[in-house]
Amino acid sequence: MRDYFIAGNWKMHKTRAEAADLAKDLVAQLKDGKHKYLVAPSFTSLETVGAIVKGTNIMLGAQNMASEEQGAHTGEVSVLQLKDLGVQAVILGHSERRHIYKEDDALINKKVKLALQHGMEVILCVGELLEERESGKAEAVCETQTVKGLEGVSAAELAKVTIAYEPVWAIGTGKTATPEDADAIHAYVRKVVAKLYGEDAAKKICIQYGGSVKADNAAQLMAKENIDGALVGGAALKADTFVPIAKFG
Ligand code: G3P
Repeated sequence: MRDYFIAGNWKMHKTRAEAADLAKDLVAQLKDGKHKYLVAPSFTSLETVGAIVKGTNIMLGAQNMASEEQGAHTGEVSVLQLKDLGVQAVILGHSERRHIYKEDDALINKKVKLALQHGMEVILCVGELLEERESGKAEAVCETQTVKGLEGVSAAELAKVTIAYEPVWAIGTGKTATPEDADAIHAYVRKVVAKLYGEDAAKKICIQYGGSVKADNAAQLMAKENIDGALVGGAALKADTFVPIAKFG
């Protein structure tokens, strides 16, 4: 009942020309792809990439946005500005935002609600640090981030939310959670969603896995019952490495 959703988070990589080259390759190579796709370039490349993916099966995503609609917020980019560029979805609560830029659950929740109010899709990232996993707190951390991230989000709005489970220790490290470990957290997060919104909403919600997803582990991860896609970082930076993930199955 759930479609696979494969997203590429290009993080702070690529000039506009490099982003355009990759976007063109992806459009050509994924045109017959059977899953849902998104690319999230840097703000500076959104317009360029947006023009290339417009009207294709690849959605345009942003990697972050401001918690306010507009105003005196130097250096921030608003939901209105993103929509103006044709952005359809936004990644929020990425661990790099949480841990490097100290975004907390309340701020992330404000952004989630604002994006949804403006009709954007949201990829809400959750995930534990290594020490939290080692001390047995992985489920509790993901539960808190999910509950607080979704506070005030209506059942209707939830249809536009994807949750991405990204264990922080697996991001950019080459260490992937085993498919079993990842699936266990996904199942747990699904239960949390069931408690908040009911079984039907929990069955429908897409939960991506992120953290060193590569062509050689993607299929095993996504074969698991509760893993509905991937949020890919490093391997999303080249068509050669992203397309095999995007075309799995
Ligand atoms: O958002 C994607 C991400 O953080 C995973 O990055 O490089 O481990 O695939 P990577």
